[in-house]
Amino acid sequence: MQEHPQIQERRSDQTADLVVVANRLPVRRVQADEDLDEQWTVSPGGLVSAMAPVLADRNRFAWVGWPGDADGPTEAFNHEEMRLVPVHISEEEHELHYEGMSNGTLWPLYHDKVEPSEFHRHWFDGHRRVNQRFADLVSENAAENATVWVHDYQLQLVPGYLRALRPDLTIGFFLHIPFPPPELFMQIPWRTELTTGLLGADLVGFQTLEGANNFARLARTLDLAAGETNELLTRNGRDIHIRAFPIGIDVERYNEGANRPEITERAALVRKRLGNPKKVLLGVDRLDYTKGIDVRLRAFKELLAEERFGPGEVILIQVAQPSRDNVEAYVALKERVQGLVGEINGDFARVGVPPVHYIHQSRDFDELMSLYRSADVMMVTPLRDGMNLVAKEYVASRHDDTGVLVLSEFAGAADELTEALIVNPYDIDGVKSALMRAVAMPADEAAERMAAMRAKVEENHATRWAESFLTALRDVTRRTPSGPSKRQGETTG
Ligand code: F6P
Repeated sequence: MQEHPQIQERRSDQTADLVVVANRLPVRRVQADEDLDEQWTVSPGGLVSAMAPVLADRNRFAWVGWPGDADGPTEAFNHEEMRLVPVHISEEEHELHYEGMSNGTLWPLYHDKVEPSEFHRHWFDGHRRVNQRFADLVSENAAENATVWVHDYQLQLVPGYLRALRPDLTIGFFLHIPFPPPELFMQIPWRTELTTGLLGADLVGFQTLEGANNFARLARTLDLAAGETNELLTRNGRDIHIRAFPIGIDVERYNEGANRPEITERAALVRKRLGNPKKVLLGVDRLDYTKGIDVRLRAFKELLAEERFGPGEVILIQVAQPSRDNVEAYVALKERVQGLVGEINGDFARVGVPPVHYIHQSRDFDELMSLYRSADVMMVTPLRDGMNLVAKEYVASRHDDTGVLVLSEFAGAADELTEALIVNPYDIDGVKSALMRAVAMPADEAAERMAAMRAKVEENHATRWAESFLTALRDVTRRTPSGPSKRQGETTG
């Protein structure tokens, strides 16, 4: 398919060699003074810090994403040497595409359907519209033969739309969340369109090998691509490479934070405020039903009821950052978790010593660091999770090789962090045993386990992840002859 002439016309001089496409822009708006002047600040951590060193090598780079609200800027602007291209999403589209299709259909289905997934045609129409808008803006902002890296489940149609508009581009896609088994995916009424969208990429990356294999199997089951192995598929004579790229964290930032004296002081203060218990347990999550917050609360409640700890001996801090609070299932979860916390504290608190400290707020980096440093046991018990970076953050902050990680086998991180106490979050007795083992673990065993995990987290850091994806993308393009089959547009079917 030829590029639409209007798009060709609109393409500016500032086209980029590398375009990152993600649901959100990597900045947030801050109001810096009384005149309410708009100012932007780079969102700390996350994708942008992984990309930073990679971007330093690129002369022309752009990031296409949603600015965070319907009144955001509509024109591209520059911020800290990044060209930011905002995608306007109306309030109605936000409901259909983000709250509806992304977080009411795909999110639960991709997480083992731990909550029901809803299928609504008008949600998918909105989703298509928004994905097409992302693709159009990428097309306008990408230089000839540029590399485009599309991120995550909200934008799976973008690679296909983009290939149709701009066959010259090299397109990579990375999914940050799990990719479900075909048996589940087949329920989606738009399964063919979504899979075709992903197959528009040259390289499709997943957090785990399981996700990569699920996708390759699906593409063959739907007869949309062929291939002898799960690593390489072909469609319309074009190669599509499928691989796992487990994501890492900005290790330096956590190391540096953990070693700062004021963090050590704050961590000691946290313990003091809790009444200097023998052990502090910690959970840090977005308030999401996939995270298994209720799992650990139930396990903790039973242990208290069985008097396995003395009064005030073990305290649990649960940080649950507010998230997606317009989506029904999240509202119900909030009530469920609050109910459980209330029950535990009602049944087992003494004056001044509630066993659970529940913080339903976002915490800044320093506060999180002091919590990580104060906790003897970190509980990461998702029912399903693409990776779970909190597990890696805790490990990176334990520079003295103290602390125990209890980790769900259904988090992508469990593939790497095999020295954690691995639990099945559906097995409450198993979670209880792991917790008891964690609080009683001898220091030398804990140190051995933590050192092994820290070595892995340090090696596979965020920048290495970004570099390895972009290197693989460059390699697959080199290996693919740039004959007519590669450079042809495709219909998105
Ligand atoms: O894990 C997927 C993800 O989209 C992350 O990229 C993001 O930080 C998190 O979920 C919360 O997403 P949002 O608030 O944009 O829905």
